[in-house]
Amino acid sequence: MQSIKTLLLSTILGTSLVLAGCSDSGDGPTTPGGGSGLRAQWGGANGIGTLFTQRCTPCHISQTPRAGGLDLSSYTALRTRDDDLSPGDAANSYLLQKLGEAMGGSRMPQGGPYFTNAQIDTIRVWIQAGALNN
Ligand code: HEC
Repeated sequence: MQSIKTLLLSTILGTSLVLAGCSDSGDGPTTPGGGSGLRAQWGGANGIGTLFTQRCTPCHISQTPRAGGLDLSSYTALRTRDDDLSPGDAANSYLLQKLGEAMGGSRMPQGGPYFTNAQIDTIRVWIQAGALNN
């Protein structure tokens, strides 16, 4: 019984973290670092784009050479790497695994600071929903 209560509680907490993450990332041009240029590059996925352009594009740039051959500067560039992203299948997303501790090689963002669990959950939910640009 105790364990069911704990499970329910963590589900509720987990859900509200995800919701908080979504509402954080869902705002418009006032998003830190997210000006109109970022919106042009990331379209409707601007909230996710803000996370990537603030924390990943120091290394994963549009110009070559870029880290791991991966360009995270725009939504279009990211979607050329669906084998890394696995839209609709977050459990098999290599990109998502690279954000967590369990992955071999470097955890991303390389050198840290790493994304919070809430930020990783926001990205997980977005990938699971198909990584849409809406
Ligand atoms: C300080 C530089 C740096 C930052 C910042 C960084 N990365 Fe990386 N990333 C690398 C390097 C170097 C590699 C290649 C070596 C490896 O895979 O560990 C790499 C590889 C990757 C790969 C594997 C690409 C492939 O197909 O092999 C993914 C996915 C990735 N990074 C995602 C991210 C994400 C998402 C962020 C932002 C949260 C990020 N990285 C931030 C340097 C960085």
